[in-house]
Amino acid sequence: CKKLSSTIQEAPLTSDVAYELADIDWDSLGFALMPTDFMYIMKCSRGQTFSKGELQRYGNIELSPSAGVLNYGQGLFEGLKAYRKQDGNILLFRPEENALRMRMGAERMCMPSPTIEQFVDAVTATVLANKRWVPPPGKGSLYIRPLLMGSGAVLGLAPAPEYTFLIYVSPVGNYFKEGIAPIHLMIDTEVHRATPGGTGGVKTIGNYASVLNAQTAAKAKGFTDVLYLDCVHKKYLEEVSSCNVFVVKGNVISTPSIKGTILPGITRKSIIDVARSQGFQVEERFVAVDELLDADEVFCTGTAVVISPVGSITYHGERISYRNGGIGVVSQQLYSALTRLQMGLTEDKMDWLLEL
Ligand code: COI
Repeated sequence: CKKLSSTIQEAPLTSDVAYELADIDWDSLGFALMPTDFMYIMKCSRGQTFSKGELQRYGNIELSPSAGVLNYGQGLFEGLKAYRKQDGNILLFRPEENALRMRMGAERMCMPSPTIEQFVDAVTATVLANKRWVPPPGKGSLYIRPLLMGSGAVLGLAPAPEYTFLIYVSPVGNYFKEGIAPIHLMIDTEVHRATPGGTGGVKTIGNYASVLNAQTAAKAKGFTDVLYLDCVHKKYLEEVSSCNVFVVKGNVISTPSIKGTILPGITRKSIIDVARSQGFQVEERFVAVDELLDADEVFCTGTAVVISPVGSITYHGERISYRNGGIGVVSQQLYSALTRLQMGLTEDKMDWLLEL
């Protein structure tokens, strides 16, 4: 576990120092926006680099009606979480991975991006400014949402002349209303999330708007969400609207390989390492939809979702159930291993945590 050594750190809290908490019901957090005290903003012009950002009171921002992000979708977002330790200190999970992913995405979307150090410092400053919103241990986490957008005005299609990097936060609980209970997916054979050569592999805002229709239709039929197939063969698993997917068969855990159409999830990457360290064989490869038929378990991973066991998948009207709709043993084991690590309850052997 890395220790923060920047000047913005305040005196560390210890178990005998009570920490301040916002006056909210910490037992009923879901995944909905709860406005907090501060947000972080940093701007730069096209062709320049980001240099200095600042914390501001959380609130609405002003944008030109012809901002690049509003007109042409020139925008990226990230998601990461901060957890409260038993001693009151705060842990960030792999923030430099989000910084790296934002830099890769920014290149694809023709935008300047903060350096890794600027990104991590900005996240740290934002979390510390909002620390009374970090839930007590076991009650949830502080979801951190960095945005990068073309905020300058354009009319013709072109990269915006100005960019804004912004971070806001919200305390959250479970993403799906099911919590850790299994979710129910349907495969939409008509709608695809990404195309080869497109932007499926970066966290651009358009990837999420484009699945809302399929997701809404699935929810109306009683499903939790949609599992998408590749658009070329219509045969290989890609991912769910907001998370990656894993298929378990015996001791082998398979997940679609990162090949441009799959979002390189940080929880995905972490679970691969955690599973390998626990003796599972993990394969990153093309996973055919037929493999769902004789899988033992299926689960999803994501920052917001963490690990969500899948109770059933419906494909061409046929429902495939797993573990009698209960939580799979492998999903449960990996969920416990990951969340205990994120909350600082087990040793951080991989050096994934940054303690504030
Ligand atoms: C996350 O898991 O952090 C995401 O970005 C997915 C989002 C749709 C909530």
